[in-house]
Amino acid sequence: MGFQNLTLTCMMILCISVYVNCIDNVEPHNETVSQRPNGFIQRNGNRFFLNGKPHYFNGFNAYWLMSFAADPSTSSKVTTAFQEASKYGLNLARAFAFNDGGGYKALQTSPGIYDESVFRALDAVISEAGKYGCRLILSLVNNWKDAGGKHQYVEWANQRGQKLRSEDDFFSNSLTRQFYKNHVKTVLTRKNTVSGILYKDDPTIFSWELMNEPRSLDLSGKLVQDWVSEMAAYVKSIDNVHLLQVGLEGFYGRSMAGRLEYNPGYEGGTDFISNNLVPEIDYATIHIYPTWMWRSNQTAQNAFIERWINIHNEDSDKVLRKPILITEFGLSSKVPGYTVAKRDKFYAEVFNRIYFSASHRGACAGGAFWQLFVEGMNNMRDGYEVIFQETPSTTHLISQQSFRMSHIR
Ligand SMILES: *[C@@H]1O[C@H](CO)[C@@H](O)[C@H](O)[C@H]1NC(C)=O
Ligand SMILES: *[C@@H]1O[C@H](CO)[C@@H](O)[C@H](O)[C@H]1NC(C)=O
Repeated sequence: MGFQNLTLTCMMILCISVYVNCIDNVEPHNETVSQRPNGFIQRNGNRFFLNGKPHYFNGFNAYWLMSFAADPSTSSKVTTAFQEASKYGLNLARAFAFNDGGGYKALQTSPGIYDESVFRALDAVISEAGKYGCRLILSLVNNWKDAGGKHQYVEWANQRGQKLRSEDDFFSNSLTRQFYKNHVKTVLTRKNTVSGILYKDDPTIFSWELMNEPRSLDLSGKLVQDWVSEMAAYVKSIDNVHLLQVGLEGFYGRSMAGRLEYNPGYEGGTDFISNNLVPEIDYATIHIYPTWMWRSNQTAQNAFIERWINIHNEDSDKVLRKPILITEFGLSSKVPGYTVAKRDKFYAEVFNRIYFSASHRGACAGGAFWQLFVEGMNNMRDGYEVIFQETPSTTHLISQQSFRMSHIR
């Protein structure tokens, strides 16, 4: 989602169960999946494993963690968020390991130049996540202008003599690609000042994400496909332990016949099938916003949601043979006709489909709602926020989902 407010960035967490045994129940590996140390999430076929047992997620998004952690007047909210999340069984947080440019609490203020105090805030977020048993997906750049994004990278390149006219040049220009690789390397090889652990060695981090919601005007799909192939290989050349995903919303492209019709009426220069078939990509993702279908009535929106989840789960199972996570879904209180009950119904629908797939050994292993706030963040409300104390019915659903996902055997 293109989150609006100023701040951003953040990350989180994880946790770390430290016991160690059970290698004997790992299912036979017949794929080129590298063996990871105990305590790290692994992938085998279409499922995730932790210490030899299938592993499932119930998670949340919180883009604000890093910038809040960077300000002493707001940093306690980061701890509160993890405390509350763990109370309701949430074991995954998706956050951003970027904040590029001149905005509030920027991490990378110009290419290769980092604000150490913001990096320390990210360190704190990761270590806090670990304390509360929450693993992290960390995204490495934004498609959107919030927190800089590809727009900022293109501007930086132009300040150094390039003559780029389109944000799409982010994917192809040699200088922006180099800037991006430098950022990847800086983050992955960062030594956490709280825990002393290199990010690339930290089991609290479950996965890297190449980009939040990549999109391009090149509907042939080549621009994004080439970028994903190059950058996925680059990430794995530095860190072959953590899992990696693209950051896709799930739009289909042209690589597989009969799939464009499942899109919500438009596409985005990405290709759910070919992007996720890149060998270094470990699992697929989709996002779901009923407002993608804002022109349609409720019945048509519901039908879209059902089809969107089912077809991606099926393709992950049968075509990709990789797991899939629904890394964003949300409904804003600003849409006409909104009620908490409507949002609950949407969440329940998503949760049920995730659980059905996971409990039948399918590819869908979890989701993360957009987005978690704690009390006292009124100036940042965008309508999507879930505040546990405010909507007990939603909190109950989330908590039930955590419970049943953690009991799948
Ligand atoms: C892995 O094993 C499964 C089940 O035995 C088989 O269907 C699949 O083709 C194998 N994959 C590879 C890459 O060998
Ligand atoms: C909703 O839209 C669909 C397709 O556009 C249409 O067939 C259906 O009759 C509509 N339903 C209602 C209740 O308006």
